[in-house]
Amino acid sequence: EANTPPTLSHLASLFKTKKYSKILVLTGAGISVAAGIPDFRTAGTGLYSNLEKYNLPHPTAVFDIDFYKDNPAPFVMLASEIWPGNHLPTKTHAFIKLLSDKGILLRNYTQNIDGLEVLGGVPEEKVIECHGHFRTASCTSCGSPMDVSLVSKSIIEDGVPPVCAKCGGIGKPDIVFFGEDLPSVFHGNINRDVKEADMIIVMGTSLQVQPVAGIPDYVSSKVPRLLFNREHVGNFDTSEYNYRDIFEAGNCDDGVENFCEMIGWGEELRTCYEN
Ligand code: OAD
Repeated sequence: EANTPPTLSHLASLFKTKKYSKILVLTGAGISVAAGIPDFRTAGTGLYSNLEKYNLPHPTAVFDIDFYKDNPAPFVMLASEIWPGNHLPTKTHAFIKLLSDKGILLRNYTQNIDGLEVLGGVPEEKVIECHGHFRTASCTSCGSPMDVSLVSKSIIEDGVPPVCAKCGGIGKPDIVFFGEDLPSVFHGNINRDVKEADMIIVMGTSLQVQPVAGIPDYVSSKVPRLLFNREHVGNFDTSEYNYRDIFEAGNCDDGVENFCEMIGWGEELRTCYEN
């Protein structure tokens, strides 16, 4: 019997029957591009294309823990530019909040360090900031927590690496660098969440960085997987054998808006986004 690949409108009609109540949302830098924050890997506009002035051996060195301990200046400079506080959540963030308001958001695993999920009103317990955030800071040598207001002053106002009062090591905001483990809240929830999820929506990520990139593969093989992204990523199936994946190419804000119209949430999305 021939397979009929799923369509967004079919998924939307199932959605309207309240079939899905434990939705896992996986997000990356692409969802904040419309807020004015560049992503990492888009050629030309992405952060990794625009680090020439830092003279790095390779772009990701700016977020490498061993590199930072030897040469903190590039991250200190970059952090002063990207420290959150100047951007507002997008329509896609509003959609995640709406899923939560409706009681059907199981969890939002985000790779973003911009804090826009929580700023946009998604409850903190529903958001797992897999790559950390700028709200707290600690020492890279002894691990002691550091006063984040002192850390931000050192980085933003003085342009120098923050020094740990306990051991003299250098500090940084608690964003996860390459070579560091993810926060315990990730490890504490991921296995249960992927088992429980009855749908996954992936938005604005290249799925290049493990372990987060593996999340779409850990959900049950019966779970529909919806991708809103400018480019095809991961192993979302677009073949004739595809039975559960839907790839909506384009800006996630447009994809989300279209989907909300299909499920009858258009007006609510607008209200949620305007407030
Ligand atoms: P990337 O920059 O790797 O990927 C962003 C993805 O979003 C790409 O596939 C873009 O095509 C897509 N995109 C861009 N704008 C979009 C839009 N408006 N609508 C839809 N899609 C859009 O960012 P991440 O996957 O988040 O880690 O990167 C993962 C991690 O790599 C980051 O958390 C960061 C980085 O190194 C750390 O800093 C530790």
